Amino acid sequence: MQLNPYTFLLPKPPRLFIWNYKTHEQFEIDSAHASRLVELIEQTTLFDKSHPIDSVFLEAGIFVDQDLPPDDWQWDDLSKIFHIGTKDLGAGDTPINTKEWADRYFSHCQEALSRQPPLPHPFAHLQRENLLCLPPPADNGAFGEPIGFRQVLLQRKTCRSFLKKSVSLNDVSTLLYLCLGYLKEREPDTYEMIPGMFNARRSSPSGGGLNASEGYLYAYNVQGLDPGIYYYHPNFHALKLLSRLNSPLGSLLQGQHFADNIPFGIFLTSRLDKMWWKYRHSQAYRVSLLDIGHISQTIQLCATSLGFKTWLTAALTESKIEKLIKLDDLSEQVFLFIGAGHSNGETFCEELQSLLNKNSQPINPGIQ
Ligand SMILES: Cc1cc2nc3c(=O)[nH]c(=O)nc-3n(C[C@H](O)[C@H](O)[C@H](O)COP(=O)(O)O)c2cc1C
Repeated sequence: MQLNPYTFLLPKPPRLFIWNYKTHEQFEIDSAHASRLVELIEQTTLFDKSHPIDSVFLEAGIFVDQDLPPDDWQWDDLSKIFHIGTKDLGAGDTPINTKEWADRYFSHCQEALSRQPPLPHPFAHLQRENLLCLPPPADNGAFGEPIGFRQVLLQRKTCRSFLKKSVSLNDVSTLLYLCLGYLKEREPDTYEMIPGMFNARRSSPSGGGLNASEGYLYAYNVQGLDPGIYYYHPNFHALKLLSRLNSPLGSLLQGQHFADNIPFGIFLTSRLDKMWWKYRHSQAYRVSLLDIGHISQTIQLCATSLGFKTWLTAALTESKIEKLIKLDDLSEQVFLFIGAGHSNGETFCEELQSLLNKNSQPINPGIQ
């Protein structure tokens, strides 16, 4: 018998809670349960299944009778609680089709709007006269042709309706190299006195020069490529098939089934073990997330310049994705999915659009 290692105690006077951050369950405990808990923490061998309080602990999963091996998280408990405590949310109760997703999302937005909205930014009230106005932004001419950088920035938008149309392997290859590949063009930047592992360069900056982010190609409708999940090798610009696809994309993304037609996308992970190695404090967890944010935007801009529309989500069903991309411990974790493909440019899927049309009040402050 052991105390479930994924629990912590949270006092909120006058109440005390025990929180299982892996299953996302919280229990309020009274003084009798709290005293017994302390007793059992000090001496676990006292655990007695016939004791009324102990049996409650067992049933609630606060004590477990299997051996849970220690995990490999190498930062403090604060970051571990946050990381594990925000994974696999809603698992077991995800929408099974787009209609169900749209209904739930619509109610969620209505509920959010029923609450007091956040205050405007403290400077939002300022008028032009109180501000230093900038010269107008450069027009297209300054950015080159045929599709200038300015146009790419203006055309990037999140779409939630994709055509059942394949994409070419060449386009996918270009995008992977320019966004995730270690750039041969930047090899002259190499410094002999810096260890080799820090010399690889991508088009996005990388926290600590570690290139802790990795990319896994989700190929659903790519010409010449078997549908599946592939590891992208940034040094050799090559793929390794890891899994065949056995469920629609939406079931990996908390039921967002409007994404099921997306022909390809990239799951971005972070090699936390690289971060653990270089940085001892969990402040570096932020760096992992920021690193991924940089690469994500590069992917979206690159996909836009190739004529695709993009969609991204951090609402992941991690346990399913981890199986497909073969992550079996905490040393590498998945954080984001970016999809791309041909689209009619619609912001909302049909199912959500029809709910919005029926509703006379403005409702949608954005998605997810
Ligand atoms: C980190 C992040 C997570 C997001 N997650 C979702 C998501 O789960 N589902 C979704 O439909 N859109 C998601 N979006 C897209 C936003 O809803 C979208 O960017 C926003 O509405 C602004 O629209 P735009 O991208 O067209 O400018 C996400 C965006 C970001 C940056």
